[in-house]
Amino acid sequence: MSNAAITTVGERSAVKVSAEKKEAYYKTLERLNLIPFWEVRKQLVSFEPTTPCLPHIWRFDDVKESIQLLGSYIDVKGAERRALVLENPGLPGGAQVTKSLYASLQYVEPGEVEDSHRHVASAFRFVLEGEGAHTTVAGERFFLSAGDVVLTPNMTWHEHGNETDHPMIMFDALDIPLVNHFGASFKGLMDGPHEIALPSGYGLARFGAGAMPVNHRPSHAAIVSPMRHYPYARLRVALEQMKKTNEWDPCHGLKVQYANPATGDHAFPTIGLFLQLLPAGFESVPYRSTDESIYVVAEGTGTTIVGETKIKWGRNDVFVVPSWQYCQHVPDGDAVLFSCSDLPAQQKLGLWREQRGNEAMTFE
Ligand SMILES: [Fe+2]
Repeated sequence: MSNAAITTVGERSAVKVSAEKKEAYYKTLERLNLIPFWEVRKQLVSFEPTTPCLPHIWRFDDVKESIQLLGSYIDVKGAERRALVLENPGLPGGAQVTKSLYASLQYVEPGEVEDSHRHVASAFRFVLEGEGAHTTVAGERFFLSAGDVVLTPNMTWHEHGNETDHPMIMFDALDIPLVNHFGASFKGLMDGPHEIALPSGYGLARFGAGAMPVNHRPSHAAIVSPMRHYPYARLRVALEQMKKTNEWDPCHGLKVQYANPATGDHAFPTIGLFLQLLPAGFESVPYRSTDESIYVVAEGTGTTIVGETKIKWGRNDVFVVPSWQYCQHVPDGDAVLFSCSDLPAQQKLGLWREQRGNEAMTFE
């Protein structure tokens, strides 16, 4: 292409080309699968983060009956999992709770053992109700209590089972939208039962006691925690100890992240998991960040102000704080919030930014 051809189009389109010629030019672009940059530039590169994701709350009291009915309405063999997807009202049709994450509420019926499968999407469960049901991950079975987290990392075999006389309800989150964005999804179905190869409690004992096995060599999962089970009781004790030593963050109260004990990094490379205690009388300083967060209320009641929206919450409610909207937590008394977001993925890609209170924003 000659330079003359480029300058001719630019000069004439501004002042000398007729409307008919310009219309014909646009039709040619359409036929060639070319899009005028100047018509999409504002939506492509915004001056600040924008997202269609909306602040939203699913109140547990509102959805619990629908979850319980899964036990009699849905055959787990045909459905694979009895789960109801939390679809953000600003993101219809994509089974997305935020732009990058999927979340659902899953029901495990007494006497039920699901078929084992695995997939590239990383997943975790946060137990809302039920005591003693189990999840098996890569040959290790974890018996779970309310508030416990269990990880099912990238391509690890897993299934859930319940040999108690009461159902279990779990909050699930997966990085499905992120994996599908990259076109990188794979899945496998186990042919036969999932063999239990490790004693119960193995991972927590081996990796959760402040020591690593000698000559520990992380496998493909160097970037994924070798520990799969994070009992709520252990993290709750940590938060109480932090309260005694005044390890306050003005934006987050007393907050910990679920860590990979082998590296100190996040438990997953794509999803960050957090637990925070908001003590009675605490009111967080307004805060915003580029990761969209999903909160699950583990204890207490309170209000979270997201931009212009006030969200009143109680135990087991799930709510969303979209990207770059100011967020402020005001608990009614001691309250504990579990949360997750794509923060580690954004940090690894150099995308993550935050603004704390009135601190100046830096773009480095
Ligand atoms: Fe799964």
